[in-house]
Amino acid sequence: MKIGLLKETAVGERRVALSPEIVKKLINKGFTIKVSAGAGENADYTDEHYRDAGAEIVAPEDALNADILVRVRKPSASEAAELPKGSILIAHIESCELDETLNTILEKEIVYLAMERVPRISRAQAMDALSSQSNIAGYRAVIEAALHYGRFLPLMMTSAGSAKPARLVVLGAGVAGLQAIATARRIGADVLAYDVRPETKEQIESLGAKAIELDIGESGSGEGGYAKELSEEAKAKQQQALADELSKAHIIITTALIPCRPAPVLVTEEVIKNMRDGSVVIDLAAATGGNCPLTEADKVVVKHGVTIVGHTNYPSMVASDASAFYGGNIMNLLNIMVDKGEGGLELKDLEEDEITKAMRLRSES
Ligand code: NAI
Repeated sequence: MKIGLLKETAVGERRVALSPEIVKKLINKGFTIKVSAGAGENADYTDEHYRDAGAEIVAPEDALNADILVRVRKPSASEAAELPKGSILIAHIESCELDETLNTILEKEIVYLAMERVPRISRAQAMDALSSQSNIAGYRAVIEAALHYGRFLPLMMTSAGSAKPARLVVLGAGVAGLQAIATARRIGADVLAYDVRPETKEQIESLGAKAIELDIGESGSGEGGYAKELSEEAKAKQQQALADELSKAHIIITTALIPCRPAPVLVTEEVIKNMRDGSVVIDLAAATGGNCPLTEADKVVVKHGVTIVGHTNYPSMVASDASAFYGGNIMNLLNIMVDKGEGGLELKDLEEDEITKAMRLRSES
């Protein structure tokens, strides 16, 4: 069974869907791997590394000639037109609605397994790319904050003077938020965190941060571990109740997302005005509108003396490790998709397994 590893073409994307180490493991399992020349160069994986792992380095059009195609991002409309009819594509779909690219793919009867749709069940944890990549985003967000903040994060006591630790607030304590808390604590910041799902309180405290508790009159816990959108009344209450804590923060890292909805506004312009000059907001929700209305996607802006960072692809900034983790997710997914038959690997019925069934893009979804 042939796997084609395609080079990413989305602007600024440095990751690659399989690292050489994962390629080696897949070859040991019986897969043949064709790597598009230069596919891993932006993640510091050379063609030589892939060749040493046992892959064939081929021209991009030859990498397409495979049973299963793997990549990180959704192909462009023109790339979708090149994909072979009837193949299997494993990648993110980056959309909640069918667009031109996705329709082209469906028309070509390509089985598109969307990495965003891995169900949140324990058996699927090892395939969950949203988790593996959010974890990296949470870590990188703290590093980004430290770079933009003109003061120390930890307590500093020296013979030349001392500095208090930074007061860092994390909004949204999901995978990215919890990793941001852990990283910020390791560096020595004073960390507070808030999430609309009350069950996160214990997780926040177990990482050594203080949980901010608000009474907004309703719980934000939704289906499948995700948050649900709050009522307008609760949103207003939440913004008001958070404003005080946020105005005192020196660094805010926001990670609050609601699947297929605009990100909730948690850091208002009023809060930004009240923050000390030189403070930093890292808005991980920038791609879906931002948790702060002043955030500009893929830009770093200074508003009312506060630096607001709107990068939309933190995992790509840690491309080598992010690719290795993503590749691990893909390998675990491939493991449930094939059986060892007498003549080699055989593809199972993807409708039989609840994971691949849920991931499959369909014309009605
Ligand atoms: P996410 O990326 O969708 O959202 C990030 C966080 O923002 C969530 O914790 C959410 O509650 C919070 N949020 C949303 N609206 C908010 C608001 N108005 N105010 C404050 N916070 C708000 O979530 P993520 O990180 O993907 O995970 C959510 C949960 O799912 C976690 O408990 C995680 O452990 C669980 N999970 C389970 C998996 C499995 O069982 N296979 C895999 C991945 C995550």
